[in-house]
Amino acid sequence: MATQLETRGNLTPAHWDVSKPEIYTEDRWGPIFKEMREIAPINFVQESHLGDYWNVTTPKAIQHVEALPDIFSSSYEHGGITLLPDLKESLPDGTPFILPMFIAMDRPDHTAERRVIAPAFTPAEMTRMTEDIRRRTAEVLDSLPIGESFDWVDKVSIELTTQMLAILFDFPWEDRRKLTLWSDWAGDVELAMDDNKREQRMAMMLEMGAYFQNLWDERLKKGAAPDLISRMVHSGMRDMTHLEYIGNLILLIVGGNDTTRNSMSGYVYGLDQFPDEREKLEQNPDLIPNAVSEIIRWQTPLAHMRRTALQDYDLFGQQIRQGDKLGLWYLSANRDESVFENPDKLIVDRKNARRHLSFGYGIHRCVGARLAELQIRILLEEMAARRYRATVDGPVERVAACFVHGYKKMDVTLSTY
Ligand code: HEM
Repeated sequence: MATQLETRGNLTPAHWDVSKPEIYTEDRWGPIFKEMREIAPINFVQESHLGDYWNVTTPKAIQHVEALPDIFSSSYEHGGITLLPDLKESLPDGTPFILPMFIAMDRPDHTAERRVIAPAFTPAEMTRMTEDIRRRTAEVLDSLPIGESFDWVDKVSIELTTQMLAILFDFPWEDRRKLTLWSDWAGDVELAMDDNKREQRMAMMLEMGAYFQNLWDERLKKGAAPDLISRMVHSGMRDMTHLEYIGNLILLIVGGNDTTRNSMSGYVYGLDQFPDEREKLEQNPDLIPNAVSEIIRWQTPLAHMRRTALQDYDLFGQQIRQGDKLGLWYLSANRDESVFENPDKLIVDRKNARRHLSFGYGIHRCVGARLAELQIRILLEEMAARRYRATVDGPVERVAACFVHGYKKMDVTLSTY
């Protein structure tokens, strides 16, 4: 054992196991990552509840790994994009329960499937959607009570992002909260590790699969249309297996839901932590576009992505072996003090806010980044148009996971300034 540790280059202290969910519920990840960046930015953790893995904690190292997708794989065939171990789940008939999605594929399959989805997120599509997003955002904000406590996560963040997904999928409007439920179950890494809940989770995914199969059949009968399901049905992706179809839907649902949701919550929470910055933004709404990037940096809605080494590799002096998994910690990279001055502070006019890695890097960089920024920008603009200020009432409840980084519940009170 000792020899193995030595060949891996360092003796990693137990508290560097950042896969533990309580680090995130208790919001104490900051100093741990800081220590790693200072002492051993690339280090090997053994025997965590998610197995052995490398911590990769600086922007330079993360970008290096992401720029070598043929060496550091995203593929579900090697374990996919979260630190979860391969759970080898099966359906009741014994078929392996694997949900292939293009975020968890390598070239050339990744390229082909991304090409089908990407046209839904072009600047022209964003322009087409802008007025609709603004109208829906205005409706949600106008329905909120002033001077009375309510849960911002549920009433604003979840509502707005779920509505957006329903529009992207052309999903039955009255059933749209099903998308929220499915997304919460699919995206929760800890639920997948819980033996008792695993079956329930699979049942939920199958229910979702059946629901979407009906939508698939319905869209197949209709002609081409800009919604995401029609794009898949009427493209090269129509030969996907049922599980691959569900996999890609989960990708779009989780990708588009938890992340934007937690940025919208991070916006309120972050500005509440730094009232001087909130005032700066209130006094100067021209700062909104930059503030959007800064909120996404500061929040970092996905704490990590995982890669698996397909060959031995010397990564800045650390000996990575074939089969090793690497946690690329965006949460840490976005707090790197050599790139971001005073990194723990949300600074609405930070000059280099856009250098954050929250959307990843390289061939898998978030395909929905523009849409996410648009939704958040419009939320901030509509808040400013009403001169609304949200202040946080008491402690917030956080997501217990090392993957989705965000809030379960956040009571706030709205006032005007
Ligand atoms: C603030 C909001 C968001 C954040 C922080 C975020 C973050 C990410 C990250 C970290 C990746 C992986 C990048 C990598 O491996 O290098 C990713 C990929 C992806 N995201 Fe997002 N995302 C957001 C919003 C969205 C939205 C709104 C959608 C769609 C509705 C979306 C859909 C996707 C898809 C489909 C991929 C896979 C891309 C690929 O593998 O080529 N995301 N996102």
